[in-house]
Amino acid sequence: MAKKSSAPTKTAQKSAPPSGKAKLADLTHVQVEGSAELSYNGKKIALPVMHGTAGQPALDIRPLLPQFGMMTYDPGFGSTANCRSAITFIDGDKGILRHRGYEIADLAERGDFMEVCYLLLHGELPTPIEKAEFEQMIIYHTMLHEQVYPMMEGYRRDAHPMAVMVGIVGGLSAFYHDSLDIADPEQRMLASHRLIAKMPTIAAMSHKYSIGQPYVYPQNHLRYAENFLQMTFSVPAEPYIVNPVLARALDRILILHADHEQNASTSTVRLAGSSGANTYACIAAGIATLWGPLHGGANEAVLQMLAEIGPKKNIPNVIKRAKDKNDDYRLMGFGHRVYKNYDPRAQVMKKTCEEVLKELGINDPMLETAMELERIALSDDYFVEKKLYPNVDFYSGIILRAMGFPTKMFTMLFAVARTAGWIAQWKEMIEDSEQRIGRPRQIYVGETSRKYVPLNQRGAGKLRAVR
Ligand code: CMC
Repeated sequence: MAKKSSAPTKTAQKSAPPSGKAKLADLTHVQVEGSAELSYNGKKIALPVMHGTAGQPALDIRPLLPQFGMMTYDPGFGSTANCRSAITFIDGDKGILRHRGYEIADLAERGDFMEVCYLLLHGELPTPIEKAEFEQMIIYHTMLHEQVYPMMEGYRRDAHPMAVMVGIVGGLSAFYHDSLDIADPEQRMLASHRLIAKMPTIAAMSHKYSIGQPYVYPQNHLRYAENFLQMTFSVPAEPYIVNPVLARALDRILILHADHEQNASTSTVRLAGSSGANTYACIAAGIATLWGPLHGGANEAVLQMLAEIGPKKNIPNVIKRAKDKNDDYRLMGFGHRVYKNYDPRAQVMKKTCEEVLKELGINDPMLETAMELERIALSDDYFVEKKLYPNVDFYSGIILRAMGFPTKMFTMLFAVARTAGWIAQWKEMIEDSEQRIGRPRQIYVGETSRKYVPLNQRGAGKLRAVR
């Protein structure tokens, strides 16, 4: 190990960032402390070890390919830090999740979603005036361009809402031309506010379209979660009174999903953004990635799983299947790449779930099945050894169902919340002077070099039916 040095990294020493890039002071908190040596085929290299303010250190492998002629192999990026970030910290072994230093449970219990959005975007909790201004700004942008509505009508009514959301959000770049220049900080902020504001409107609108009810416009006197409930559940034929317990629960669900460090969808947003694509296009890429059942689609999959399990007596059979190496069945809502302890979001979610069911007077047998599944799994050697705990998606579906959200809408709710995190991470990346276009390498395992064979010399083959 080389001598400890508290010298700032190369980045911190850079004088001025390239034009259009604001330098974020908190991104330069990386310290170089020691190095790790690597030797291969008589060649040696010392790689600096980088330390952030918390979490595991990272080897700076940037000199590896140019100076050592070697790449790294890390499918799924399990050991790779792709960026510096000051937004979210996770300690998966201890079950810690913090945004800008604040514990997730504190934010969920004492804060609200607008405050968390502000925190993620700006780095600090807002003062009362900053908060009022921010909320006003978001409310101001909740309406959609009227031509988005005919765009919606181009979809089949039975389309999955996530398919609709990917299309509509990507399509916003065709409507809001005044916020496409990502080099302009004001345009970046305008696009950010628009996206946070319009996501609930798009989500509610796609629900209304799917059930054939008229679209409900946003109401500026309502707060974010209240407005979302109103747009989703009210009908023009009768007054709609927002239940404060449900609005609070929805707000809390949004907080719990707001950001989660460099997960698949956030990394996708960063990768898309690294090419200079506009904000709307980048967020659409994030939505597409979130849709998968291993990521945001898990909340929908949990409910399907619980419905399939049925009564508690069937649980041992699914536990057996989940453990069977020859069966690709998994317990949805269990396990996490980073958490090797109870997901701190799942704890708040479980409590919220109990509150909502109590408020609504619902006795959902699925909750009973879920709790029993959790109990059995957490005492089973397979799950204990692999440290598979319930994640955020395990209880969220039960709450959303109780609130009246159709199952198909669950992942869309996740997307509404995660937009805050995507935007904050995207903005941080754009403003980081170290940012380059994302471009991983590969270990090539295909044919090496072959001679071209003309078509008429390649054999007859057999014609298959075209479908
Ligand atoms: N049920 C049964 N076995 C599991 C599960 C599960 N839910 N999750 C992981 N395992 C096993 C897996 O078979 C593997 O076993 P082995 O080492 O014998 O091959 C081991 O645990 C490690 O799994 P992995 O797939 O290598 O872990 P990963 O980090 O690549 O995947 C995960 C993480 C979340 C995709 C995975 O745990 C999973 O598929 N869970 C179910 C889907 C789910 O709930 N997703 C929501 C994640 S939280 C919301 C979000 O942030 O998106």
